[in-house]
This record gives sequence, C-alpha cells and structure tokens, in this order.
Amino acid sequence: MTLDFLGNLQRTHMCGDLRASNAHEHVVVMGWVNRRRDHGNLIFLDIRDRSGITQVVLDKELSPEAHAKAEAARSEYVVAAIGTVRRREAGLENPRMDTGEIEVVASEILLLNESKGLPFSPADEAIANEEVRLKYRYLDLRRVEMQKNFRLRHEVTRAVRNYLSDNGFLEIETPFMTRSTPEGARDYLVPSRVHPGHFYALPQSPQIFKQILMVSGFDKYFQIARCFRDEDLRADRQPEFTQIDLETTFPQQSLIFKFVEGFLTAAFKTAGIELKPPFVQMTYDEAIRNYGIDKPDMRLPAMVDLTATLTPELREALKIEQQLPVLGFVIPAAGVMSGTQKRSLVDEIRKFFGDCGLDYLDIARLKTNADFVPLAESIQNVFADALDEEWGLNPAGGEELMVVITPKLGTPAMWNFDPQWIYKKVGGLRLELAKKFADKHGLHNQTGTAADFKFCWVTDFPMYEWDEQAKVWQAAHHPFTSPHEDDIKAGRLTTDKGAVRALAYDIVLNGTELGSGSIRIHRKDVQAEIFRSLGMDEAEQKARFGFFLDALEYGTPPHGGIALGLDRIVMILAGASSLREVIAFPKTAKAIDLMVDAPTEVSDQQLRDLSLRTVTRT
Ligand code: AMO
Repeated sequence: MTLDFLGNLQRTHMCGDLRASNAHEHVVVMGWVNRRRDHGNLIFLDIRDRSGITQVVLDKELSPEAHAKAEAARSEYVVAAIGTVRRREAGLENPRMDTGEIEVVASEILLLNESKGLPFSPADEAIANEEVRLKYRYLDLRRVEMQKNFRLRHEVTRAVRNYLSDNGFLEIETPFMTRSTPEGARDYLVPSRVHPGHFYALPQSPQIFKQILMVSGFDKYFQIARCFRDEDLRADRQPEFTQIDLETTFPQQSLIFKFVEGFLTAAFKTAGIELKPPFVQMTYDEAIRNYGIDKPDMRLPAMVDLTATLTPELREALKIEQQLPVLGFVIPAAGVMSGTQKRSLVDEIRKFFGDCGLDYLDIARLKTNADFVPLAESIQNVFADALDEEWGLNPAGGEELMVVITPKLGTPAMWNFDPQWIYKKVGGLRLELAKKFADKHGLHNQTGTAADFKFCWVTDFPMYEWDEQAKVWQAAHHPFTSPHEDDIKAGRLTTDKGAVRALAYDIVLNGTELGSGSIRIHRKDVQAEIFRSLGMDEAEQKARFGFFLDALEYGTPPHGGIALGLDRIVMILAGASSLREVIAFPKTAKAIDLMVDAPTEVSDQQLRDLSLRTVTRT
C-alpha cells in the first residue's frame, strides 16, 4: 500500500469536539480508525483521537478516490479526513456519542500509516487478558477509558498543585539517588561506579529531605514525589508510585488536616464531586472498636457492642465468656436468603473463625427472621430492640438487612495478649461478608456523587507495635514520628511502650489508606531516645542517621506533614480496582514491566564497570 504524506495539512478540529453547530464547516480531522463499516457505496470510518470519536462517511459517487482509500483502511490505521460536517438525518443520530448528531462527509482521505493485525482492539471496552494489555500498553492506552483515566489524573494533579501553591507551599524536588529511608520496605539500590561496593538507595519517600527542608526554613514544602519500594505488590501497591508529599513548620495536627481537606476538595471538584469538609475524625482505638480496623470503610454501618444487652444468666445459658464483648454488624442490601443459603453462610463464618474460639450466635433479618436460627425468641427481641435504638435501623426494612452476632465460646488465648483482638477479627468478617454481598448486589457501585466517597481521619495511633516473632517493639510509623507530649512527660517511652500514643494520623477513603503523616520529633534527645528504644545503639544511630541527628542540633523548629498516594486517589476516583489502570507504565504483581521487559540481565562489561558479580541464590 502507498502511504500518504501529511505535507502542510493542518488539523482544524479534534474528533470529539464536533457538534451540530459545526454543520456545513469545512474540517480536517486526524486520528486512528476505531471501526470501519463497509456498506458498498458507503463506507463509515469512526475516527478516534484523544478527545473522542467522529463518524466519517465516504460516498463512492461523491469522492471515488477517497472511497477507495477507505476500503483499504483497517482498524488502527492512522488517517486524515478532509470534508464537510453534516447533520445526521433524523433518526440516525447516536445519542451515546458526543458527536452523535453529526458526521463528516469526506472529500479526501490521507492514509498516513498502517497497522498490523492487532492483539486486541483499542475499540473494545473490556479486554480480559491483562498481560496482553500490559505488553501492548501503547494500544491499551489508546482506549477511551484509559485516556479518560489519565486526563483525570492530570486534572487531579493540577488541582492539588494549584491549591498548595496558592496556600503558600513551595514545590521542591528531592533526590532520587540517596540513602536508605526507613519506611518499612526494602530499598531499590543503585550501584556506584565511582565508589565500588557502595550503593545509592532510591527513596522510599522524601521523608528525611522534607524534614531537612523545614530545618532550612522553607516553612511549607510540597512535592508530587516519585517513591520506590521493594515490597510485596497488591492491587493498591506498585514498586514505583507517586505521593502528594507535604510538610510545614509549627503545625497543629488540625492545620495539616485543613490543607489536605482543601486539596482533596479541589481535586475531587475536577471530577464534579463536591466534598464537604471537615471529614470525620476518630482515634485509632475508636476505629478498632467500631470497625475492627484502622482503615474503616464508612460506607458500611459500624459494628455494635451488644455486650450489655445480654444478661449474665443468658450468657451463662449460651456458654458465652462473661467478660468478653458480644459484637454485631449489619450488611446492607444482603437481600433475602433461603434457609440453605443461610446455613452455608454460617459454615462460611465458622470457617472464617476456625478454632479461634469465636462463633456466630444469630443471623437474622431484623425482626423478620421467623424461619431461621432456633434461638430463644427472647434473645432475638433483645437484639432487635438494641439495634433499633443503637443503630437507628428500621426493622420494617429488614428485608434488606442481615445481622450477624458473634459471641464467645471457650477461653480466648489471644484476648489476653491483645484486648482488641475480637474487634479486629469480627471486623475482618464484616469486611469479608460486605465484599461477598457487594459483589453479588453491586453494593459499592459508584454513582459518582459525594456520598460514594467516605473520608475519615484516624488519629492517635500507637507509637509501637510488638513484633511477636522478633520479640521486640517496632515503630508503628517511621521513627521520626513524635510521641504524644504527655506520654513523653510521663516517662512511658521507657516504662510502658505499649501505651505510648503517636502524634500520627491517617486519612482513609472507603476502607483504603490514602495517606499517612505525623507531627515529627524536632529535638535530638527525643529522637535519640526513640532510636534507642527501637534497639538502635549510638553507633548504629550515628552510622544511619548521623547527618539527621546533627541537623536536629541546629535549631530545628517543630514541624509535621503527611503524604497521600496520588495513584490511590485517582484509582478510587476513576472507579478502578487496580493502580495499573491509572499508572501509564505500571509493573505486574511480580514487579515486571511487560512492555519494555524489565528487569533484564546486563552485560558483563556493565557489571565489571560497577565492580559487581552476580551469584546464583540457593
Ligand atoms: P506511608 O509509607 O504511609 O507514609 O505512605 C503514604 C501513602 O503512600 C501511598 N503508598 C503507596 N501507593 C502505591 N504503592 C505503594 N507501594 C505505596 N506505599 C505507600 C499510600 C500511603 O498512605 N513519609 C511518610 C509520610 C509522612 O509521614 O509524611 C510515608 O511515606 O497511599
């Protein structure tokens, strides 16, 4: 086939922009053949560019040469169409297309490039095989949905940048080639050629640098920062990801919240969603007691503590541990279940709990569960009344509601070790069942309104976590997080680590942790104490963080900040279920880039230059 040259032809319109008001205009559009329909004397080419699709008509009688070229065109050929916009005849409009009222009657077509047979068509809405999508990412990114996601990502980033700039933040870049930052994952290392045996680490976050910028008097810093972490990957974790990272001097926690709520409101507005800050706030303890998890999905009702509704006699009769909580939760829209379905649900619940000592007590459609669970009616009424009162649920609407209540049988060893264990376990079941019924009934189908996006702040995290395997206390956050001033004053850092609260906070959206931050330690003595309490002796402190401890000695102001995962924000806003939908060139779960085929082996010469040798791991 002979291809045409573009010459000095200029495009006049984007495909998606043409409307009825353009009728009779002479236009030039350029793009890819999305679909081609051949009706003999009439050929229709749907031409696609970033903005959308426009229908181009080739009439053999009007322009035989152009018609012949259109006959040769195939999917994903690159073409230019020159012609006149015409209103489609009544009844032939396509209301599903923005340009559905018009078509372009072409007088001339240029075939600018051809395409070989496609592994999949970018015109298709859903492509099942993700590996093929990732291998041919350039084709995948042509899809309308992907183009939409990246436009959204751009708009969100721009809104955030503008908001923070308008509020006095300076955007400052920090290095990629640096040394290890303690964010809890493994580092990606870069060998130094000049210093054999020495490595840079790619930053897991700009944490230390942004704190140094506060020491340097920049007052308010932000960065749309790329971070690198070698960790187990999941749908919401990539080895390379982007944070909206910020830090300010002299902040109260509430000031950080205000800035974050401000830029999120601006970002969501770009997607037509009006958020209404301030967001809900709860402490870590409240989150665990009410939701069983530190990242509550507020689209579901909270758990309810039904302990007080059971008399000691009833507990005794039902063999429930007297001192343990009885918890219940509601899964909305669970629908009506047959007896068999309910029994299989009970099996599932028992499987979930295994032999940990927890069991279900009752499953009920509120007050309408006549056909199920042969428990004393009195108990059911007790619960139903409690549910009315405490949850404000309408029992008459019971068709749609399911209650699961879990008491305790036998002695719970875990309870003695972790008093929040039952809440976490029941919370886990709550999420599992919510997911099951959400999948079945589309509970979480997003309608794109503010009500679909439930934010909350979780505060007062514990400072330390007990590592049962290593038998040591670990920093729950990174070790620059300040403990509560009261806990420092009371000496709990040394006497009662489990009770020390951190000035750390998370922002959570629909059960996903979007961001994490803290007020930092700004005094060397406290910082050294935290390092020490984490088992780092002075020599190790000096070797790993000497420069930072030094900086703390030169008038470091109180400071604090936060970082939010930009990819996660866009993922949720786009209604996507994986970060790969909103990162242009992502990695697979095994950290492979299937398009460029990375990582790869390198030449012996490159290894020699870097004084490296590979060994086979046994
Ligand atoms: P943290 O480690 O909690 O905090 O990270 C902050 C946010 O970054 C996002 N995130 C990720 N997104 C995609 N893939 C990953 N592998 C990944 N890891 C983290 C999450 C997370 O909430 N320096 C501190 C922040 C601070 O204290 O200011 C930090 O990085 O959305």
